[in-house]
Amino acid sequence: MATLFEGLPVIDPPGIRPQRVAHTSSPEAPARRAGGPYAILKRKTIMKKKDIIVEVQGIVKTYKSGFFKPRYTKALQGIDLAIHDGELFGVLGPNGAGKTTLLNIIMGLITPDRGCVMIAGNNTCDVFHRDTRNVMNMSSGNPNYPWALTVKEALNFYGMLYGLWGRKLSVKVNRLIELMQLEKYRDIRFDELSTGTKQRTSIAKSLLNDPKILLLDEPTSGMDPDISVKIRQVIKRLHKDLKITILLTTHYMREAEELCGRIAFIKNGNIAALGTKEKIQRMTSSKNMEEAFIELAAD
Ligand SMILES: Nc1ncnc2c1ncn2[C@@H]1O[C@H](COP(=O)(O)OP(=O)(O)OP(=O)(O)O)[C@@H](O)[C@H]1O
Ligand SMILES: [Mg+2]
Repeated sequence: MATLFEGLPVIDPPGIRPQRVAHTSSPEAPARRAGGPYAILKRKTIMKKKDIIVEVQGIVKTYKSGFFKPRYTKALQGIDLAIHDGELFGVLGPNGAGKTTLLNIIMGLITPDRGCVMIAGNNTCDVFHRDTRNVMNMSSGNPNYPWALTVKEALNFYGMLYGLWGRKLSVKVNRLIELMQLEKYRDIRFDELSTGTKQRTSIAKSLLNDPKILLLDEPTSGMDPDISVKIRQVIKRLHKDLKITILLTTHYMREAEELCGRIAFIKNGNIAALGTKEKIQRMTSSKNMEEAFIELAAD
């Protein structure tokens, strides 16, 4: 796989469009030639299973808060999802639907009460497969890094945690600072950054280990519109050129329409709709994703 930084300019130069790649014959074609309709079916089944990089099976999570009078919040009530290798998958839903909880569970930051997460076929709840998480990273919607570290120091710090050092680390940190347009803030302390700049630092951090699976929780929340456009371009390039599988949550329906291939709409900890934006719009008889969101979020 190409490294994250090869051929990844900060922004597309205006007027230059990615070249179309000529389509070769479909993956089913050899099977079709080899053995009739049954062969096609078999081939499709094999392709589907092999293709799945993140599989979420029956995830249930209830938060308990308070000691004397505990309160229970059912965040996820049995989520099943299969994300294909190289997909840009959107997780949408109203506030409190359970999106961040789902991403945190996939990333292994919190444990579910029931269910499991398979990464490339390995159950991450199984201690022997914990290292599968090395291929993942996450940018949280509400990043909270050591307050006294500058942007550069924070990236160096997390880079070292990922096992980078010396020239390799400094080249990577500088490239990510450039990619996220953080040059002006390189030596500013984390607690002095604005929300949008913290968010960009968090995305830069999430790319330090060249992840194969990237989880982005509201990647453009709190950002100026011009910066959001650039971040979306970076997300598209990470997905298209480096074939990174991306799961993102967003409250901006235009962002979901522009970026996501398939979308899962979560409501009250359950999947209320799943499919391409066209399918979800058809399901809800809506003209765009904003209308579909309002329709699906309604009680
Ligand atoms: N640490 C926690 N303790 C108790 N309840 C929690 C905790 N974290 C989340 N919750 C509750 O779990 C539910 C799901 O929260 P979550 O943050 O996953 O939703 P979300 O879909 O990401 O919402 P938003 O769109 O506002 O980011 C909410 O009702 C929330 O109040
Ligand atoms: Mg959230």
